[in-house]
Amino acid sequence: MRIIGLGYLVIESTEAEQWPGFAREVLGMASSVDDDGTVALRVDERAARIVVVPGERDALQAIGLEVSGVVAWEAAVDELRAAGAAVSTDTAAQARRARVTGLAQVSDPSGNPLEIFHGPLIVTGPVDRPGGPRYKTGELGLGHVVVPAVKLDETFRFYIQTLGFGHRDTIRPMLNYPEPLVLQFLGCNRRHHTVALASQPDPRGMRHFMLEVESIADVGRAYDRCHERGQLMTHLGQHSNDQGLSFYIRCPGGIMLEFGTACIEVDEATWSARELDAAGFWGHQLVSP
Ligand SMILES: [Fe+2]
Repeated sequence: MRIIGLGYLVIESTEAEQWPGFAREVLGMASSVDDDGTVALRVDERAARIVVVPGERDALQAIGLEVSGVVAWEAAVDELRAAGAAVSTDTAAQARRARVTGLAQVSDPSGNPLEIFHGPLIVTGPVDRPGGPRYKTGELGLGHVVVPAVKLDETFRFYIQTLGFGHRDTIRPMLNYPEPLVLQFLGCNRRHHTVALASQPDPRGMRHFMLEVESIADVGRAYDRCHERGQLMTHLGQHSNDQGLSFYIRCPGGIMLEFGTACIEVDEATWSARELDAAGFWGHQLVSP
């Protein structure tokens, strides 16, 4: 199976109505709102990169992983079933919500909800984001997401052996971290990592997601806006694995977004997975709420 990249995320939110304003004013995203209150956020030509569904929790509802088209998608479904995974393709409503042609729902061995999809809807008009950041997507996909994996080894092998991801790095345990956390970083294109697995459970089903922008100025201006609004979760910092310059934002409902730039790109053919002794070179100190 060949996953092209992270296509979209679906987030359940107790504060869905706050997302369009937050996304426009802080993140420079365009949005549309369905009759049932579902919010679709745009950062590029795709109709929905982040879908926010009104609900009882603030949690990850789906990770949209993209394949190249309908024939590749049918083969992916067959491969998942042959590997013993429970796959649902009775998903017309979910496909409408994610603005894609078709998707298959499957969980990884730790229960993280995946949607293997094809056919993203492209909007031909420009994204309305005057003064907003330019998001780095394209062949790199939307960004990355860090999810809990209580069955860490089994889940790690599922992403590599069944979904075709590559192993990029391991951090175990992080020396500068208050809990004995093991992280496995997995990639499917030149972005250093698209999915990271964390050994600790997380009630939100997601420790954070990350979006990359084109310039340090894009990051700095977003940092200023979050500082003014009291939405900084951390100060600026630089990670050791993708070497990106980033900070963390408190989104509506407490969802955590890493916002960064200047991440390295890897050559999948020659990359050798590394063991790192810390997650960061510097920074990312927590900001008190
Ligand atoms: Fe991250």
